[in-house]
Amino acid sequence: MASLTVTSDIDEDPASYVPQCGTVLRQFDHRTQDSGNVSWLVESEGRPLFVKTAGTPQPARGAPTPHLDHTARVGLLRNAIQLARSCTHPALPTLLNVIESPAGPVLVYEAATGELVGVPSERRGDPASPYQRFAHLPAPTPLGLFDTLVDLHVALAAAGWVAGDLYDGCLIVDFETPGLRVVDLDSYRRGAGTNDMGRMFGSTRFMAPEELELGAAVDERTTVHTLARIVWHFATRLTEERSQFCGSNALAQVLATACRSRPDDRHASVADFGRAWFAARQA
Ligand SMILES: Nc1ncnc2c1ncn2[C@@H]1O[C@H](COP(=O)(O)OP(=O)(O)OP(=O)(O)O)[C@@H](O)[C@H]1O
Ligand SMILES: [Mg+2]
Repeated sequence: MASLTVTSDIDEDPASYVPQCGTVLRQFDHRTQDSGNVSWLVESEGRPLFVKTAGTPQPARGAPTPHLDHTARVGLLRNAIQLARSCTHPALPTLLNVIESPAGPVLVYEAATGELVGVPSERRGDPASPYQRFAHLPAPTPLGLFDTLVDLHVALAAAGWVAGDLYDGCLIVDFETPGLRVVDLDSYRRGAGTNDMGRMFGSTRFMAPEELELGAAVDERTTVHTLARIVWHFATRLTEERSQFCGSNALAQVLATACRSRPDDRHASVADFGRAWFAARQA
């Protein structure tokens, strides 16, 4: 049987190769993602894997034209390879292998167990959705999961990474353990930079003002804002109200500082935010 653990190149379209490597549990393509990528959850030799590709240069029949062309999608996957190789953390599924194919790299990740918190907007009101279940976990479980999110970003920032397109669609929660894994960090950028897009990739609910302003500085303080917005959204049980926040006053104050509009008024770095977060968590 073909293997996803070999390091040799694939001389065919991954879409025909990958299903031969094991049991396809799920396919992710234009029906569920707007990236233009094609990915699979595959059980290969008894092991669940997440296999991610940029798809093919031409969209599949009936698929809309993605925002990014194939070359740009391959560029993001190469960025994801750099990120995975620069930082290991329990919350990051391990990148086990990269196989080259004519359609670009095939990234073979460890599969995360759990459910994606982000759901389509029309499902956000459904009490059975992971979005609602995550938001209504009894305290202090959500804060423990956010410790993991913050700790991961302290490690990523130490390796130079500034968050991009971090939103609830990157959070996989295992409600049983409970545990948090973070996926799809392909749009993170290494080092501080400027907004070269106008409206950058991301979910408006969690984005910082500088991610909407062409030419604005985008740096670790942007990461601080996004992290705090995600925490506030879910830890206030989706209300954004202080009265519903499931943490202490000290923690609420840390998040309020992190969410200030002017980057200069926030914590100066993810490390500073992390220190303030964990100090408030222990207070
Ligand atoms: N390591 C993983 N283990 C298990 N499931 C994963 C893993 N990585 C991603 N997924 C699942 O696959 C889906 C698609 O992955 P991902 O978000 O990385 O693809 P994408 O092509 O970048 O999509 P988009 O940017 O449009 O959301 C995720 O929403 C998540 O449900
Ligand atoms: Mg993506």
